Amino acid sequence: MFLKEKKYKLVNGICSFIDEKELTGDNLKYKKIYDRIAWAYNLSQRFFFRIKFGGEKKFREPFLSELTIRDNDKVLEVSTGTGDNFRFLNKKAVYTGVDISMKMLLQAKRHLKRWKINATLVHCEGENLPFEDNYFDVVFHCGGINYFNDKQKAILEMIRVAKSGTKLLIVDETDKLVRENYRKNPFLKGGFTDEAKASIPVNLIPLQMQDIKSEIICNGLMYKLAFIKPTA
Ligand SMILES: C[S@@+](CC[C@H](N)C(=O)[O-])C[C@H]1O[C@@H](n2cnc3c(N)ncnc32)[C@H](O)[C@@H]1O
Repeated sequence: MFLKEKKYKLVNGICSFIDEKELTGDNLKYKKIYDRIAWAYNLSQRFFFRIKFGGEKKFREPFLSELTIRDNDKVLEVSTGTGDNFRFLNKKAVYTGVDISMKMLLQAKRHLKRWKINATLVHCEGENLPFEDNYFDVVFHCGGINYFNDKQKAILEMIRVAKSGTKLLIVDETDKLVRENYRKNPFLKGGFTDEAKASIPVNLIPLQMQDIKSEIICNGLMYKLAFIKPTA
């Protein structure tokens, strides 16, 4: 699963490929924000989903329904946060979730135990995945990429670790959500304010990818972008 040349430390029982002293720019900034809010993240999200969409399932369904996950498929979520997407997916698949925030991963560890979901959690940057090429049957991302240091690199990494023929899915907030919600949220303290970054990264998808489709979903608050890695 892991590339032989990538070295990791076990931190809180989670494989960590990050030396936090080496994080820079937005990756450092958002790692700190998510570390700070991790304890309250789920509670606030559930409240938000209830108010805006009538529940978490209704929020996640418009994008998770893009994924076809068969029993025993190896599934990667980049920026898994507190692990909530796994709760709505095929329980017989084999899950891996990566994230830059150890505090978010620790919440995920707790949740997955409670929900009896078996997933490997990995502490790394989305731009620097420690996995072998062509390893995963399903690769998706929901939330975070708008403010990554290097969206292009993260997309190329998702493509690299996906098997040929895999559908990749990228979901994040639109500028509307930044304007209408994030800017007014005192807990986010200066994060997520740049609405220009909240655009669909369709121009970053390599031309050889197939069936590239994007759509605005969730009452205009989120976008989804899906494409297929071609067979070699
Ligand atoms: C909005 S949360 C999404 C959590 C989860 N995917 C969900 O749908 O609920 C965004 C996550 O992206 C992570 N993140 C931010 N920048 C990252 C990066 N460069 N690499 C990996 N994860 C990152 C944050 O730590 C946070 O957990």
